[in-house]
Amino acid sequence: MRAAEGSNRTARTDEAWWHSAVVYQIYPRSFADSNNDGIGDLPGIVAHLDHIAGLGIDVIWLSPVYRSPQTDNGYDISDYQDVDPLFGTLEDLDVLIDAVHARGMKFVMDLVVNHTSDEHPWFVQSRQSRTGPKADWYFWRDARPGTVGGEPGSEPNNWGSAFSGSAWQWSPDRGQFYLHLFSARQPDLNWDNPAVRDAIFAMMNWWLDRGIDGFRMDVINFISKDPELPDGSVTDSGYGDGMPYFAHGPQIHAYLAEMRRRVFDGRPDTYLTVGEMPGVTPEQAREFTDRVHGHLAMVFQFEHVSLDHDGDKWTTRKVTVSDLRETLGRWQEALADAGWNSLYWNNHDQPRAVSRFGDDTTYWRESATALATVLHLHRGTPYVYQGEELGMTNVPFDDIASFRDVESLNHYADQTQRLRVEPRVVLDALRRSGRDNARTPMQWTGDPGAGFSDAPPWIPVNPNHCWLNAASQVDDPDSIYQYYRALIALRHSEPVVVSGDFTLLDVRSETVYAFRRRLGDQVIDVVANLSVERVTAASVDLGTDGILIGNYPSDRRLVGALEPWEARAYRR
Ligand code: NOJ
Repeated sequence: MRAAEGSNRTARTDEAWWHSAVVYQIYPRSFADSNNDGIGDLPGIVAHLDHIAGLGIDVIWLSPVYRSPQTDNGYDISDYQDVDPLFGTLEDLDVLIDAVHARGMKFVMDLVVNHTSDEHPWFVQSRQSRTGPKADWYFWRDARPGTVGGEPGSEPNNWGSAFSGSAWQWSPDRGQFYLHLFSARQPDLNWDNPAVRDAIFAMMNWWLDRGIDGFRMDVINFISKDPELPDGSVTDSGYGDGMPYFAHGPQIHAYLAEMRRRVFDGRPDTYLTVGEMPGVTPEQAREFTDRVHGHLAMVFQFEHVSLDHDGDKWTTRKVTVSDLRETLGRWQEALADAGWNSLYWNNHDQPRAVSRFGDDTTYWRESATALATVLHLHRGTPYVYQGEELGMTNVPFDDIASFRDVESLNHYADQTQRLRVEPRVVLDALRRSGRDNARTPMQWTGDPGAGFSDAPPWIPVNPNHCWLNAASQVDDPDSIYQYYRALIALRHSEPVVVSGDFTLLDVRSETVYAFRRRLGDQVIDVVANLSVERVTAASVDLGTDGILIGNYPSDRRLVGALEPWEARAYRR
């Protein structure tokens, strides 16, 4: 397979290539369906690569396409070294990798190794006996002493799963419980067993040898658990919070160091590694991503996408600009001279940013582009999630029958059945915070199937595809798509965007987010009004000269004030 060529199209600094790169995430189920079975697939992606290359993207991250029962849309893997027939074949994947490389982009796969599917042969063997070769590949524990195994209260500890209910499932075959931090069909692998690590590292090497350019590592900070598996403090869910015992566990650095040594160290320093790390602190992220001693290129942190959570993700609060300044500013500062940030508003687990932090009605275009301006001009590697470049919005599903996500369906059942909450109330929460918001089909055209598929899609298309779609935006110079293209081009042409230091500007406004980037004598000021009111901003010169990029047409720019959701970047 041909290696990626020309991926350093941009002015290099002395930094790693991914410092000037922008990544585009594809959620394959929902991207493009070539064989009209209602589910996106690999040939569908190949057919739409020019849409991505046209944005100026450097790297594609593909969410899982491995063999899987699809309980969690592929984050439940039953064969790490094959493609699920839903998406195509290994040969289709080779074709895609070549096609990505031929366009000068790199190709990163999802690595889901905190857990497997319960249909993975490792787990099938593990559940068969307490003595076989795979017996200790997962977390098996006896029922609590003095209880009857399988009955409520007999679970080995009180941890709740991320997808509602207990984190333990009783297995009559072994007469024991197994641990699953996600659904019961996603048992957690026991990384303390060296044979598990051998198998995972061999698999990773196999993929790198096949020609991929790195991994996005699913919940990678959960792989080392406190061996005592102690009870956690009980939350509103009625279950214990196990995070203190499984996030950032005792061996996390040892395991990632071993991964680095056994998978990456013998290879050129060109692989992108990004670790998804719920609960990670800036100090921990700095250690993980330190250029000399760290194990990963960057991590995904969760603080800014938790700002609207009020207790849990289903109960929300309003996010203020000062919340964003405090959180994003702190992360910029913490990783200023060691480590590296990833930058994102959206991915397949988050509601659509324009609906969540912006205004998806009156100021839809302006707020989508203002949010993009802020994010893309921070220091770090920006990620664009499919459809974000079109300003795709949350979906107005009004019936539980339209939802597909295991997390949402479990939450709905738990709330309406166990806690007797009114369905209307739970549906409201799913509409606001559910992951299906990000997973409706990509909106290519205004046709009935949104140009995604001619068959009924696996999840309904958003009705707004009739006006919100790629066909109407790609050639429109004023579109959100074209604005993303311009922002990405700016990162590629301006070393200060890549490497400049970052300082928040105090503009004494509750709705303006403003910062300065500086590299030597190169200075850029970014000011964004994240509100529907016209505002002024103290201590920043809001002239109309020297604007590098702005989301209002030049004849509508005011001197000394910003229109609703207006964003500008100035060269000073
Ligand atoms: C994080 C992934 O992004 C999410 O989609 C998945 O459900 C969980 N990890 C479990 O793999």
